[in-house]
Amino acid sequence: MAKRSKITVVGAGNVGASCATWIAVKELGDVVLVDVMGDFAAGKALDLFEAGPVLKFDINIIGSSNYEPTADSDVVVITAGIPRKKKPDGTFPSRDELVKVNQDVVGEVTRQVAKYSPNSVIIVVSNPLDAMCHVAYEESKFPKNRVIGQAGALDTARYKTFIAQELGVSVRDVHGMVLGGHGDTMVPLPRHTSVGGIPVRELMAEDKLQAIIERTRKGGGEIVSLLGYSGFYAPAAGTVEMVEAIVRDQKRVIPSAVLTEGEYGYNGLFIGLPAVLGKNGIEKVIEMELNAEEKQMLEISANAVRDVVNVLGYQQV
Ligand code: 2OP
Repeated sequence: MAKRSKITVVGAGNVGASCATWIAVKELGDVVLVDVMGDFAAGKALDLFEAGPVLKFDINIIGSSNYEPTADSDVVVITAGIPRKKKPDGTFPSRDELVKVNQDVVGEVTRQVAKYSPNSVIIVVSNPLDAMCHVAYEESKFPKNRVIGQAGALDTARYKTFIAQELGVSVRDVHGMVLGGHGDTMVPLPRHTSVGGIPVRELMAEDKLQAIIERTRKGGGEIVSLLGYSGFYAPAAGTVEMVEAIVRDQKRVIPSAVLTEGEYGYNGLFIGLPAVLGKNGIEKVIEMELNAEEKQMLEISANAVRDVVNVLGYQQV
């Protein structure tokens, strides 16, 4: 029998707990939930574990405030850090404003992960996403295929949701992708979007499509405005899609933040690109033709990512 996967989720807040829940329900592997807050992770993990007999999942779930129980994890999901919260004046910080404080948190987490699970694949979820991927990469010293950022899975899910809603069709039949950084300059690709194989532009007026693109770009902020803090169901769903692709070696094509090495003309920068995910993490970055407008949008997004990454104090990119 194949060895059961071991999946650590760092951060037992809304995103981490939702990830743990769906990992359990899908029985992707045993789960270790880690959180620095005393017994918080232990409590969350036990509560979730006790749902097993009802939901019929048969895996182990434990929680801890230290990393010893995480040893030899196959996949580690990092959700730790300060999320976006609405301020009393109704405004909320951009993901980028969280950069310095979350650099410390993600840096410390990553060093522990690298120590206890040196062969794991790290999936970064903390914001600002693309910059936090750089932190995890620098601090883990892992090869680039084992440090991946979750952003495209979520942004694409939002994009598909809005398209399906507008057209009154099943979300199952909407295909498409969102590339670039996980910020307001992200790059939804309508030319590569189809519904049951039919190009979306044959089905939807351009103004409606542009409104959906804009709504997708601001999708995280829309949730913060409504909830007062960051969303977690869709971010966790996107993350678990990636975990599943890795532990089940599915070779799924999922837009993911990857460290570029010449792809699309970028070097040394984490940015969202179509990637094949399997047991080795990123197994391939797919290069496709972009037209001039798409290239320009990707460049704007890459520049926005670069500005934030350069505040981290690593080698300038
Ligand atoms: C989002 O887009 C929190 O960045 C996350 O909802």
